[in-house]
Amino acid sequence: MTVRPSDQPASQALFERARSVIPGGVSSPVRAFNAVGGTPRFIRSASGAWLTDADGNELVDLVGSWGPMLLGHAHPEVQAAVQAAVARGTSYGAPTEPELALGEEIVARTPVERVRFVSSGTEATMSALRLARGFTGREVVVKFAGCYHGHVDALLASAGSGLATFAVPGTPGVPASSTALTLVLPYNDRAAVTAAFAEHGDRIACLFTEAAPGNMGVVPPEPGFNAFLAETCRAHGALFVSDEVMTGFRASRQGYWGIDGAVEGWVPDLMTFGKVMGGGFPAAAFGGRADVMSMLAPEGPVYQAGTLSGNPVATTAGLATLQRATDEVYAHLDAVGTTLKDAVTTALTAAGVTHTIQSAGTMFSVFLCDGPVRDFAAASRTDSAAYAAFFHAMLDAGVYLPPSAYEAWFVSAAHDDRAVQVILDALPGAATAAARAQTQEP
Ligand SMILES: Cc1ncc(COP(=O)(O)O)c(C=O)c1O
Repeated sequence: MTVRPSDQPASQALFERARSVIPGGVSSPVRAFNAVGGTPRFIRSASGAWLTDADGNELVDLVGSWGPMLLGHAHPEVQAAVQAAVARGTSYGAPTEPELALGEEIVARTPVERVRFVSSGTEATMSALRLARGFTGREVVVKFAGCYHGHVDALLASAGSGLATFAVPGTPGVPASSTALTLVLPYNDRAAVTAAFAEHGDRIACLFTEAAPGNMGVVPPEPGFNAFLAETCRAHGALFVSDEVMTGFRASRQGYWGIDGAVEGWVPDLMTFGKVMGGGFPAAAFGGRADVMSMLAPEGPVYQAGTLSGNPVATTAGLATLQRATDEVYAHLDAVGTTLKDAVTTALTAAGVTHTIQSAGTMFSVFLCDGPVRDFAAASRTDSAAYAAFFHAMLDAGVYLPPSAYEAWFVSAAHDDRAVQVILDALPGAATAAARAQTQEP
């Protein structure tokens, strides 16, 4: 393994130990730094916008646990609510008030009429897919290349970041029979959607899309694209499933739907949520039309269950987070995002690095290629070697970016002037490093 200046002895020792008991030393592949090289930082603690690694380095965090930490780490009021919940016992396997209150908050913010809790985004999309198939009596699912919906067998084909990072189109272990019923289309391509529905319309149970894809970098839907998808599904008796695991309560107060559907006047049949609504705990959900959701057991025949679903500590954390996710918080995320995007553009332009920055509400990402990036084929042109150089220069300067060129950057309510300044100071050097890596390309 190449030793990088940003490698740190305590993290290195822990990583070596970890690799002997955990495959790749990590519990989720992107954490291993394979896409950028070097050794992942082991994180000892986090507070506000800051992470402290095992060597005691303080880093400004732009990963935010891959999205959940909207308010920043260890928010004192969220922590107090969680501590009080823990003191009341951690799991009962019975209905509780926190899950009800979180359900009411989600129903109030989004167009879903009923919501069911699960423990991960993957479980949410897996359950929504089963429900859509059960409701329609059909089996085919349509998805877009570059959209990630968790590691559900049927949805893992051409699934963006995690797989793109490792340059594999799919994964061994998924039976051909699972993906035989999955149609993968190019994103933002109306003609491809129209053609797929013309040919297979009466067999299509549902179309899954990220409300605004964030797993191939941020690739927003072109104006009216989600409305077109909703209408196409409706015309063919298929369900429109909008995956807001990443964008939900993040892109805006009402998720990405707040930016398009709420304005244009359409609603998805089903939606999936995770990340922010769990407040940093394993909580996720799927919800939608009351008639569709009533097909779920025990009201209906579609079975879905979970020992820890609606866990009282996790739902308390999620509720405490959403209650504090106010308009002021989203305005702050917007303002910090704008400052950072401007500074990134200034630094990369000065260094002569080709780049494109794209946003979806308060989410954004930086592609090291020219734009616009409107689908996965375009996203794949991003210069991963230049990004690796940029990433390590930022890390050396105390900024923790996503260790993959295909990920969104996440800011939080806790990113204050001091944290932002560290990022601004780091950018010119990182841009120069990226430029050098680009010129070394053959
Ligand atoms: C849009 C989307 N859907 C589903 C998932 C899966 O969620 P989880 O990692 O909690 O299983 C993710 C995770 O990044 C996601 O971004």
